[in-house]
Amino acid sequence: MSIKDIKHYVSLAKGGIQTAKERKELLERQFANLNEQLEILNEAHKKIKTKIALYDEMLETGIDFLNPNDKSKEELAKIAESDLIIYQMPAWWMGEPFIVKKYIDEVYLAGFGVLFANDGRSRADESLKYGSGGLAQGKKVMLSVTWNAPKEAFVESDGFFEGVGVEGVYLHLRKAHEFCGMQWLPIFMCNDVVKNPQIEQYISDYKAHLQKYV
Ligand SMILES: Cc1cc2nc3c(=O)[nH]c(=O)nc-3n(C[C@H](O)[C@H](O)[C@H](O)COP(=O)(O)O)c2cc1C
Repeated sequence: MSIKDIKHYVSLAKGGIQTAKERKELLERQFANLNEQLEILNEAHKKIKTKIALYDEMLETGIDFLNPNDKSKEELAKIAESDLIIYQMPAWWMGEPFIVKKYIDEVYLAGFGVLFANDGRSRADESLKYGSGGLAQGKKVMLSVTWNAPKEAFVESDGFFEGVGVEGVYLHLRKAHEFCGMQWLPIFMCNDVVKNPQIEQYISDYKAHLQKYV
C-alpha cells in the first residue's frame, strides 16, 4: 500500500463502523494488487528455477546447452514453430536409423529449457514424478515407418517381436517425446515393403490414418 493510502486508511479507521465499507474496499484493491504481483513473481521464480537447473546440468555434464551448434538451433526453431512432427523412416536393424537417433540426441539435448525444463522431479515437491518436466505440450508427434517385416511379426505372441506390437518396438521414442511433453499419435506402419509392396494400399491406409488421428 502506498504511504498516501496508508494515511487515508488510518484516517478512515478513526471514523468507526461508518467507514468500514470503504476500508474493506481499500484492502480488497490492495489484495488484488498483491495477487497480480504474486503471479508475476511466481512466473519469474519458475523461469529462474529452470535456468538454474540448466546451469546445474551444464556444470554436471560439461555440455554448453546455451550455445548449441547452429544446425541444432535451426532445427529447434522448426520444432518450436510446429504443431505436428512426423518422422518418416525405414526400419533399420529393428528400430530407427542411427541418423534419426543422432538428430534426437543433438537437437533435443539443445532443447534443454525449450523442450524440457528438467526430469520433472523436485526435492521440494516429492509428488512430482520423473518425466513430468516437458515444455512442449500442445505439440503432436507421429512415426510413419516402412518395414520389410510383415504385420504378423509384430502382433502374434509367438511372432518375432513377441506380441509387443509396433508401439512396443518404438517405446523409447514415444517416451523421449513424452518426456518433452509432446502428445504421441499412433504409429503408421507399412509392412512387407521389400518382398510384397502394396503401394496403392499403403497410400490409402496412410490417408485414412492421417484423417483419423491428425
Ligand atoms: C541396413 C538395413 C537395415 C534394415 N533393417 C530392417 C529391419 O530391422 N527390419 C525390417 O523389417 N526391415 C529392415 N530393412 C529394410 C528396410 O526397412 C526397407 O528397405 C525400407 O523400409 C524401404 O523403404 P525405403 O524404400 O524408403 O528405403 C533394413 C534395410 C537396410 C538396408
